[in-house]
Amino acid sequence: GSTKKEINMSTEIEKRVGNLLNSSNGSTSVENNPSTSSETATLQSKPVEAERPTSLLEIHTASEGLNIELKQKQEKMRESDSVKAMLAFREKLPAFKVKSEFLKAVAANQVLVVSGETGCGKTTQLPQFILEEEISSLRGANCSIICTQPRRISAISVAARISSERGEKLGETVGYQIRLESKRSAQTRLLFCTTGVLLRQLVQDPELTGITHLLVDEIHERGMNEDFLLIILRDILPRRPDLRLILMSATINADLFSKYFGSAPTIHIPGLTFPVQEFYLEDVLEKTRYVVKPESDSFPGNSRRGQRQQESKKDPLTELFEDADIDAHYKGYSTNTRRSLEAWSGSQLDLGLVEATIEHICRHEGSGAILVFLTGWDDISKLLDKLKANNILGDPNKFLVIPLHGSMPTINQREIFDRPPPNVRKIVLATNIAESSITIDDVVYVIDCGKAKETSYDALNKLACLLPSWISKASAHQRRGRAGRVQPGVCYRLYPKMIHDAMLQYQLPEMLRTPLQELCLHIKSLQLGLIGTFLAKALQPPDALSVENAIELLKTIGALDDREELTPLGRHLCTLPLDPNIGKMLLMGSIFQCLNPALTIAAALAHRNPFVLPINRKEEADDAKRSFAGDSCSDHIALVKAFEGWKDAKRNRKEKAFCWENFLSPVTMQMMEDMRNQFLDLLSGIGFVDKSRGANAYNQYSDDLEMVCAILCAGLYPNVVQCKRRGKRTALYTKEVGKVDIHPASVNAGVHLFPLPYMVYSEKVKTSSIYVRDSTNISDYALLMFGGNLIPSKNGDGIEMLGGYLHFSASKTVLDLIRKLRGELDKLLTRK
Ligand code: CDP
Ligand code: MG
Repeated sequence: GSTKKEINMSTEIEKRVGNLLNSSNGSTSVENNPSTSSETATLQSKPVEAERPTSLLEIHTASEGLNIELKQKQEKMRESDSVKAMLAFREKLPAFKVKSEFLKAVAANQVLVVSGETGCGKTTQLPQFILEEEISSLRGANCSIICTQPRRISAISVAARISSERGEKLGETVGYQIRLESKRSAQTRLLFCTTGVLLRQLVQDPELTGITHLLVDEIHERGMNEDFLLIILRDILPRRPDLRLILMSATINADLFSKYFGSAPTIHIPGLTFPVQEFYLEDVLEKTRYVVKPESDSFPGNSRRGQRQQESKKDPLTELFEDADIDAHYKGYSTNTRRSLEAWSGSQLDLGLVEATIEHICRHEGSGAILVFLTGWDDISKLLDKLKANNILGDPNKFLVIPLHGSMPTINQREIFDRPPPNVRKIVLATNIAESSITIDDVVYVIDCGKAKETSYDALNKLACLLPSWISKASAHQRRGRAGRVQPGVCYRLYPKMIHDAMLQYQLPEMLRTPLQELCLHIKSLQLGLIGTFLAKALQPPDALSVENAIELLKTIGALDDREELTPLGRHLCTLPLDPNIGKMLLMGSIFQCLNPALTIAAALAHRNPFVLPINRKEEADDAKRSFAGDSCSDHIALVKAFEGWKDAKRNRKEKAFCWENFLSPVTMQMMEDMRNQFLDLLSGIGFVDKSRGANAYNQYSDDLEMVCAILCAGLYPNVVQCKRRGKRTALYTKEVGKVDIHPASVNAGVHLFPLPYMVYSEKVKTSSIYVRDSTNISDYALLMFGGNLIPSKNGDGIEMLGGYLHFSASKTVLDLIRKLRGELDKLLTRK
């Protein structure tokens, strides 16, 4: 056996790597590869990107003339009717009442915390007050005001709003910069950017030299980026006494932030809202006469018992159910309510109920927009599909249904904020983005499902999950408040009151419930010293085990060396605002000529799986997915093939039918295409893809499944499962948790024997047992070449993979060859 293996392997590897080395020298001819020509159009049709300003931090040199010019222009604009009308609107906002108090406090203090109800005018007014004041005092030309937003779409929408309030075009005095996109000019003095963009800028300018005023918005959300930025800012402030820092928060926990900055002064903006009537599940069911179907599906993730176990670590509410006598809580509730709650506790939001509630409002209640809070993109897209398919609303022209999600690459700004024509009902399907960062004024009805997709991280089992969890009381209050902006409103809560009473007061900060590898890379790229020491300075530091896990993972994938310093791969990964594993897959995909599959898989990993799981047609759905997978034993290949099929169908404008037949979500497919383009932009931004060469230059091996699987291994490592033969079956083991099972939704579920000895997977989830989701069967060669670092094995008979994922024995000649090849692979990454 061993000689055969040696021969196979050396020829195999030489062939592959030989090819790869050739092609990366540019000697591969494009004509060889007709298979991927269809993608060329996409790549080449995008125009070469215009030069855009890369620094946020231009120091504006003083110019008396320009200062006067700016002031005159501002005064002239104030004469215009549109600006006057806008001013009338602005003056009614609660923020306007604190204008002078605010400006005085900014002048007198280095740090200021401002809190106020959502919609009171913090984001649109406070930065604008500073801008107007600077311009009026003839300092306009010298100021540089930056305001950070947690999400791309709020950065765009706020910048656009302020520009129109000032009677200017977007990108003149007020602009925005988000990843890969900006609207700004040399005139820009107030710039909205995502918190991520500002963090990246810190690499070039650690002292934020050019900034005069920095406003950090939505800090109450306790997002990871915002918490991270606050640690850095607290260190910068003493070195930048002239820098003004303004922290903006909804009315939650303002004291916490003030304390963190040495008891910084706070201003509270009192709000004005209309009363909102609230209904809980029991009333909603009665009003809608909706009958909840009993749980029928035996899929383990759906059963309440299974789900309870899965969530027991993260969901205190479910824990409460286990401890207390749940039946006592249920007293007085109908079977219908009980069924609905049981289903929803088991993570299955009953979209039928949401739909029925929408229908009820449309038929029986007065006019006004409806805002529906859902858990995430999957619910939004399912409900969108459902509303379209069922046409419960009758005439489709009478309804304007708008999805609103933080990772949407584009939004139709006007559509969301403007009032629709009379007799048209606006229905916004949103995630918690509409909770505090985007205010839609004409909302009168809120439907709140009570949950939000939340990441959670179990450091002991190294399990990261993105699961719908019950929101906090604070969030429920925020959501309800959205209904009372312009007139008294109604809030329909799709959960019983006992759930509300048991909700946490506040949500746990993101830093405490997320894997930290991306953050750790960032800390290294900003040269902030040892990761552990740095993170200990956070508002609420993450626990040591989570930090250790992250550092270990970064070492395992080769991003950090054993002294915790960035490797060349690590430096590349720092420049990609992505999970390091996904980033590595993209880099490898571009180097090793299977860019298309890498983009597709990365898009699905970063976003979500497009395969839908219809409860009553599960077998057909499984068949569809299996036929994409062919005999590859790979969910990821199924995904790639499904996407290719969708692209073909789209060319013939048949993509809807294609999705329908193959149980794919049309909205998710479209989103994946957009994300692929974003990733392509990222890769071209760091020089790994040269768009002018066309797609063929990067796809020579895109149809070579073994090669694609090897790239998958590079990206997903160390998510490795060993397949061990036990009689007529394969048993699966992971290093961390021992025995695992294939998730029932996988194309690999039910396979008794796997042809190849390893499996890589995207994610493991814990329900009744530990399942690996989306898996791909791979060879030991793939692991050997693309897995973790190799070290001599302890008993001297071969090599081992760092961390013990693989033990490989072979002759010295073969081992030497492998080491050389691995060395060459590493060099490919240092080239750029
Ligand atoms: O930041 P905060 O939640 O305090 O409020 P804001 O975002 O500054 O919004 C103040 C007002 O401006 C609200 O009534 C919004 O509806 C309105 N607005 C708008 O009409 N269009 C935008 N793009 C943003 C805000
Ligand atoms: Mg705001």
